[in-house]
Amino acid sequence: MKIVCIGAGYVGGPTMAMIARECPDITVTVVDIDEERILAWQSDELPIYEPGLKEVVDESLGRNLFFSTDVGKGIEEADIIFVSVNTPTKTFGHGSGRAADLQYLEKTARNILAHARSDKIIVEKSTVPVRTADAMNRILNSRNSDCSFEVLSNPEFLAEGSAVKDLENPDRILIGGHDTEAGRKAMQTLVDIYARWVPKERIITTNVWSSELSKLAANALLAQRVSSINSLSALCEATGADVGEVASAVGRDSRIGPRFLNASVGFGGSCFRKDILNLVYLCESYGLHELAEYWHQVVKINDYQQDRFVGSVISNMFNTISGKRIALFGFAFKADTGDTRESPAIRIAKQLAEERANVVISDPRALDNARIDLGDLGDRVTYEEDPYRAAEEAHALAIMTEWSCYKELDYQRIFDSMLKPAFAFDGRRILDHQKLYEMGFNVYSIGKAPLTHLDA
Ligand SMILES: NC(=O)c1ccc[n+]([C@@H]2O[C@H](COP(=O)([O-])OP(=O)(O)OC[C@H]3O[C@@H](n4cnc5c(N)ncnc54)[C@H](O)[C@@H]3O)[C@@H](O)[C@H]2O)c1
Repeated sequence: MKIVCIGAGYVGGPTMAMIARECPDITVTVVDIDEERILAWQSDELPIYEPGLKEVVDESLGRNLFFSTDVGKGIEEADIIFVSVNTPTKTFGHGSGRAADLQYLEKTARNILAHARSDKIIVEKSTVPVRTADAMNRILNSRNSDCSFEVLSNPEFLAEGSAVKDLENPDRILIGGHDTEAGRKAMQTLVDIYARWVPKERIITTNVWSSELSKLAANALLAQRVSSINSLSALCEATGADVGEVASAVGRDSRIGPRFLNASVGFGGSCFRKDILNLVYLCESYGLHELAEYWHQVVKINDYQQDRFVGSVISNMFNTISGKRIALFGFAFKADTGDTRESPAIRIAKQLAEERANVVISDPRALDNARIDLGDLGDRVTYEEDPYRAAEEAHALAIMTEWSCYKELDYQRIFDSMLKPAFAFDGRRILDHQKLYEMGFNVYSIGKAPLTHLDA
């Protein structure tokens, strides 16, 4: 059996490397139009950082895992075609800022039609609006062709930073297909592949539309939890409650559960925002305006949380940060990844620079992406991998990403090198606030009362 995956990104690369490792008898080829990315997958420096990924790739690379820019050949030879291209938010025309931009997906469908010479199972791995499989089907069957195409939905639930663990041991695999003989047969083929390493009871089959919607629903519910706890963090700061204590207390309720209740500067990553906006647009296009507004609020609270953080920096630093050096510790949207897509640090860094602060960005993995994201700010922002140097002569430091290395820094050394009064703003609630306060820092953390020497 031969599998091709179109799109060698954060999803296509790791998922295919896992299939190749677990199914050594299946030839897996990952294709992409981005030549640089394909070369990187074959090199020692993978195009994305994920703990444990290099080892998984190395096990199969050149044996039954291949990377190539020859998309046509890949399609021609494959029995199963995974489609894992990007589906970003549209930035133009109808539905701009909300709807999914499906141009890459559509191009892929047309490319499949152009190159297929035999029957294919097409697997939607990309996150798509509900009923996209219908559009794929129509394109694939728009010509009298001897080949038959069966479109399945198989959304990916991996989380960046723990992609390898998630792929090795997924909570569930979801496969949506049509309730026809060909549909059931195609689903079974895909079930059999995953069943090589995933327990059968974790492989769920549904109709196509449920599968497509479940991915949007899962991301909407996860992001909603983050926005819910973040909304409470503002109330904690106003009242003297501590959001960590509140989260721990409510999370003990087995109906609520403890996960995804960490208050912070907000969620980021390429998916949450775009998938919720996609859901909002979907609701609107079905005339379900109250639902659209309900889900839109999740994104609005996320923006509000970041703006609130910047507001706290400005007001607590005597209402001006002009000319002040502020070191941002972390730029990736979460720890253990170099991905900065939709990272809260982008919006925050831009707002601080607008206030004419001298922003210094530090991150162990994401500085290259940060330079691209903040390219239009020119020399108003500088980059420094070493956090000690980033903080030298700074007026303030602010934690943007929960990298564990930031918990272990010598904060006394950092305090000694900073200008006084020294400020610490903890946007991820990872520091020992009492200890920092005792060193002399004025400490402001999301979701709790500040510890400050300034009023004394
Ligand atoms: N990143 C995540 O954590 C994650 C998790 C679950 C689902 N998803 C979904 O998976 C999909 C892919 O996400 P990603 O993060 O891997 O995106 P990505 O941007 O990292 O990768 C997509 C790749 O597709 C390639 N591509 C685009 N059009 C192509 C074409 N016509 N032919 C060949 N290659 C083409 C691009 O060059 C790019 O390398 C998206 O729909 C996303 O929503 C992402």
